[in-house]
Amino acid sequence: MNTDGPAVNPLPRPDVVPTRDVVIVGSVLPADYARFGEELAELEAAGVDRIQWDVMDGHFVPNLSFGPAIIAAGRPHTSLPFEAQLMVSNPDDLVGQCVDAGCGLVTVHVESTGDLRRSLLLVREAGARAGVALNPATPVDAIANVLDLVDLVLVMTVNPGFGGQRYLASTEPKIRAVRDMVDATGRDIDVELDGGIGAGTIAGASAAGANVFVAGTAIFAHPGGYKAAVADLRARAVAASNLRPGLPG
Ligand code: DX5
Repeated sequence: MNTDGPAVNPLPRPDVVPTRDVVIVGSVLPADYARFGEELAELEAAGVDRIQWDVMDGHFVPNLSFGPAIIAAGRPHTSLPFEAQLMVSNPDDLVGQCVDAGCGLVTVHVESTGDLRRSLLLVREAGARAGVALNPATPVDAIANVLDLVDLVLVMTVNPGFGGQRYLASTEPKIRAVRDMVDATGRDIDVELDGGIGAGTIAGASAAGANVFVAGTAIFAHPGGYKAAVADLRARAVAASNLRPGLPG
């Protein structure tokens, strides 16, 4: 007879990857900054699931972009969720401001903080979902001790700072390793990719285990327009994996 009380349900088997939804995230880094409000509304109409704001300080990355004030100005123009990717040297200083500006997800780079758990706890205490980002040169082990605090792992598929760069296919084994690591926790953690995601790269990225795909240039430069770009990316991601198409918005 089992005298240890009710059997504890084992964690889901790591080899049974749950089917997930494809999430297409529109990065506004390549947008027309003179028409931010219209661009946000057009991305929503095009069917993206989320907006990503690349917050850059010109120090952590060699580019200076936008901050909480611009994010807040964009907030009224779309009902889509906002993600702030903090490519800054002092992310703790901006977490609360980005949440106040309307971001429900804030992603912190492993490389940008001296106390990653503290930075991620700041995000959660501010009431947002927390993401952790890895640059291409950063090993997967760097996130092994924070998976209890995150809802998303962002694997950079370019060196951060600029849109329109070439996708680093060499990151695909790392994407698989991150997917296996997060699935082994039994927690519902998304694997997001950012950088060079497009028609020619999303299938490999999807097959490697990602389910969230950030795209900037592939959407803004698509000859058929934003809607055609998003639909094509979503279809290609689904075709290359066991992902569900997800629902825009
Ligand atoms: C890099 C940026 C880019 C941007 C989208 O720091 O984060 O990845 O979001 O870039 P593309 O244009 O390659 O989709």
